[in-house]
Amino acid sequence: MISSPRVSFQQVRKTWQQVTALQNFSLDIATGELVALVGSSGCGKSTLLRMLAGLESPTRGEILINGEPVTGVGQASGMVFQEPRLFPWLRVIDNVILGLANSPLGRAEKRQRARSMLDRVQLAGFADALPAQLSGGMAQRVAIARSLVARPQILMLDEPFGALDALTRHTLQQALLHIHQHEGTTTLLVTHDVEEAVALADRVVVLSPRPGQIRDVVSLALPHPRQRDDAAFTAACRHIRDLITTF
Ligand SMILES: Nc1ncnc2c1ncn2[C@@H]1O[C@H](COP(=O)(O)OP(=O)(O)O)[C@@H](O)[C@H]1O
Ligand SMILES: [Mg+2]
Repeated sequence: MISSPRVSFQQVRKTWQQVTALQNFSLDIATGELVALVGSSGCGKSTLLRMLAGLESPTRGEILINGEPVTGVGQASGMVFQEPRLFPWLRVIDNVILGLANSPLGRAEKRQRARSMLDRVQLAGFADALPAQLSGGMAQRVAIARSLVARPQILMLDEPFGALDALTRHTLQQALLHIHQHEGTTTLLVTHDVEEAVALADRVVVLSPRPGQIRDVVSLALPHPRQRDDAAFTAACRHIRDLITTF
């Protein structure tokens, strides 16, 4: 039991006409926790994030943020997708400022916030660059900065590094960990990459194939930085892989 969880999914089900994407999903997430969601394609991971963001509503059950039901799209969450979704004609800094579109802050303050967030993702020198001048990994870091600049209570990432090469993915995983350690934002990370989940998460939620249900929640007490060739690390990966592939 987590007392006053940041996020609480209670018996959530999502059905479209014939298809049940997700059922019986109950999970509490503590403030500041980093939770990874893994499971085969189509088991409802993106649907879960969309419901938490208020873009879809559950067919049954409830989703609470700070004890209050999610009723629509609010300011509580930031979302990062597989593609950075930057505006190509806007400079990096202006793309990040877009994350403050609904903020009452003045122009100068928005610019200053965006600069400090670019600093956090180690792109301070690229504020005036255009997206076309960035590598894929840099563009994704801009997307992370844009989603965090408004200081959301929850950060959601939907397979954020899936389109990157292995080396860049590794660098971005470390960057995400660094950002999480500094910002302390409650984070929900959807990934296909079991190693990524084990490298980053406090807990890994393993979903069964559609209709997605929680198969197990694996707590990882390994200290950071986690060594991927460590016996406990590889054992956790194997355990999670077995859970995913068992029918
Ligand atoms: N808007 C929708 N209408 C009908 N079915 C949908 C819709 N969105 C998702 N689904 C179905 O729900 C299931 C889960 O989708 P999704 O959450 O995208 O899975 P995942 O992200 O785990 O791959 C899939 O079978 C998908 O086809
Ligand atoms: Mg998905």
